[in-house]
Amino acid sequence: MKVRKVIVFLLVISFIATFSLSLYFYLKAFNFDTRLTTDRKIKEPQYHFILIPEEMDNPYWHLVEKGAKAAGSEIGAAVEYSGPIQTNVEAHINEIDTAIASKVDGIITQGIGSKNMTAIINKAIQKGIPVITIDSDDSDSRRNAYIGTDNYSAGYMAGKALIKAMGGKAEVGVVTGNFESANEKERVAGFKKAVAEAPHVHIADIQESHITRVQAAEVAYNMVVKHPKINAFFGTSALDGIGISAIVQQLDLKKGIFIMAFDTLDETQNLMKKGYIDATISQEPYQMGYESVNMMVDLLKGKQVKAVNHTRTQVITAKDLPIKAAFSNRGVPND
Ligand code: BGC
Repeated sequence: MKVRKVIVFLLVISFIATFSLSLYFYLKAFNFDTRLTTDRKIKEPQYHFILIPEEMDNPYWHLVEKGAKAAGSEIGAAVEYSGPIQTNVEAHINEIDTAIASKVDGIITQGIGSKNMTAIINKAIQKGIPVITIDSDDSDSRRNAYIGTDNYSAGYMAGKALIKAMGGKAEVGVVTGNFESANEKERVAGFKKAVAEAPHVHIADIQESHITRVQAAEVAYNMVVKHPKINAFFGTSALDGIGISAIVQQLDLKKGIFIMAFDTLDETQNLMKKGYIDATISQEPYQMGYESVNMMVDLLKGKQVKAVNHTRTQVITAKDLPIKAAFSNRGVPND
């Protein structure tokens, strides 16, 4: 009898233990699932956009990326940042083609202005995928909108500021990102217009850097050797001024050569503080990225979006520093 009682007691205990454990794990699993589902509901992006830069690992483009992703997380859009490792028009076009094939909701891309690029942008539009060009336009294409600098004006502004700083007399070497991109061509054209208005200013040479510091330094070196009268440089893309200043420092030409750069990357600002770069033209890459995503959502919602949206540019000298990279008209905090 006693033994039976003990067995019943043990059975009851083990039943209670099994039941409690099952209940505990069931509830745990249930809670976990509920949380995941709610999280998913909050985070599930409504749109999937792609942002295609001129080159992936470029500090200027990382600012565009940062702005685009900030807007994306506010608005519920997944922004994929993908493009050529190093500037390469063919790889850029392939990237757009892949984005079309994967049926993204919107393509935000730098516009180069080449025939093949125009054709691929038009293909996206024809397939019903909206396209916004950023930083550099392709006004011959059927893109929905452009956001970025007014590059011709920016080049003209750089020219005017350089001429003023040089007292109206200069022999200038121009280092440009590349000869193909629409934005670089426009900057050079604007600069030439300013130079044409100054009778004692001449452009001694124009060479490409392929948007790298190293090649900017190399072509700047070749220019000072070939044209010893050069006393000013204009670097038309974000890393050109940095490359030019490396050569000017190395050759100890600091006092004799004026450098007008482009953009306000941290490295440029540091060189300006040290006096190696004299002035630069600021752009708003963070804001371009931020606004492009908002514009894309507006387009998808059928709202009216202006075809050309210019962000601001300014002549910056050491007294204006520091310049913050991240800000937006729509109230994104500075970093
Ligand atoms: C230009 C970009 C370019 C970058 C290269 C910027 O000034 O706006 O088009 O890709 O420089 O570093």
